[in-house]
Amino acid sequence: MSAPGARSVALRGAGQILRPPRVGLPWLRGADLAAQTLTGGDLGWSDGVLSEGPLRSADLELDVPGCAVVPGFVDCHTHLPFAGWRADEYAQRLAGVPYNEIAAGGGGIRASARALAAASDQQVLAQARDMAVEMLAAGTTTFEMKSGYGLSREGEIRALRLAAEFALSVPQTTLSTALLAHAVPDGYDAAGWMHEVGEMMGEVLDLGSVSALDIFVETIAFSVSDLAAMGALARAGGLMLRTHVEQFERLGSVPVALTAGARSVDHLSVASDDDVALLADAACAAVLLPAAEFLGAEHRAPGRVLADAGALVVLATDANPGTAPVVSMPVVIGLAARLYGLSPMETLAACTLNAAWTLGLEATLGSIEPGKRADVLVLDSPVESIAYRFGRNPVAVAFVGGDPVYVRDDWVDRLGVRS
Ligand code: NIG
Ligand code: FE
Repeated sequence: MSAPGARSVALRGAGQILRPPRVGLPWLRGADLAAQTLTGGDLGWSDGVLSEGPLRSADLELDVPGCAVVPGFVDCHTHLPFAGWRADEYAQRLAGVPYNEIAAGGGGIRASARALAAASDQQVLAQARDMAVEMLAAGTTTFEMKSGYGLSREGEIRALRLAAEFALSVPQTTLSTALLAHAVPDGYDAAGWMHEVGEMMGEVLDLGSVSALDIFVETIAFSVSDLAAMGALARAGGLMLRTHVEQFERLGSVPVALTAGARSVDHLSVASDDDVALLADAACAAVLLPAAEFLGAEHRAPGRVLADAGALVVLATDANPGTAPVVSMPVVIGLAARLYGLSPMETLAACTLNAAWTLGLEATLGSIEPGKRADVLVLDSPVESIAYRFGRNPVAVAFVGGDPVYVRDDWVDRLGVRS
């Protein structure tokens, strides 16, 4: 959907417009978090690019009094596309069965791998599209998606191809990550599967759609030496390295991930003080996934301590059928505020510019500054309400590249556009 002829758009009289303290920052950490500004006023763009000052006139003019205007949310850690759900396992976990035990019994990642193998391409794409619609309505204008439920060479390549096809059918910007070491496939040990991963890299790179590799480092999955090996593969292939580390058991993955050049260390639920010290000034994102921690009754990442130390704190959904069947960034913001004690400014930076940096997109999106893409949300209430009115979705309009790609029903008449 787009507003007819709306090459330029002006939002008038916003209550709050969230801006970084200076233009051109790659990320927001330390003192820059609190130095973000929330000044009211007007915001405009032409041809999808944010303007230097307010536009005097525009094709589409929208009054937004009392509203907050923030960058579109960037969800930098999801496991889309996948097949089906695992509500039965959640019932088991509520009854006290640990994730590892469910996985050891053939559930967990293996259960989703069986579901993916059994589903047709059309079924997988339809489920993912439905989720992308929900994500957009909750303000996610960019998201990353991981493979990892293929659990065979052919299965992983199929998952990556499906991700590439899916990307063409959604209004959001997407990035594809090859999570090639998620669970050790049947018939292999970890070393044997890592050898296979090395063998399939040519095919993965030939797809041309993959921007990062990923690995799950855990006693039930892969080791820190496999992590170092995945880092070498990423370097050789010119891809970023993303990592699932320190989720359930403390294995000392963070220093290894940093040495391997990881762009991010994700989860960190059992991270140590030494890990915090290493991440304090690292060019590596600490991606926290509070929905997985809350729903799994997992350990809690040291979010407050990481932010105070100056780490590059990022928030994401971890949307997946096992640990986090959650797609809403406002829900994640509410959880992070309560579980870690992050301020509204800290939570917003963590799912906008900092998340954009995690994906290598910080030069073009993630903050409201002149010259950046007009990926912008109009929230119907101040930013403080996102966490406070927990579970409520405040998104009234979502613009991607300047176009109103989502308009909440009660705002349709104001925009003069229909979905
Ligand atoms: O990020 N930790 C590993 N991977 C996912 C869970 C995947 C699943 O249970 O299906 C995660 O939490
Ligand atoms: Fe994950």
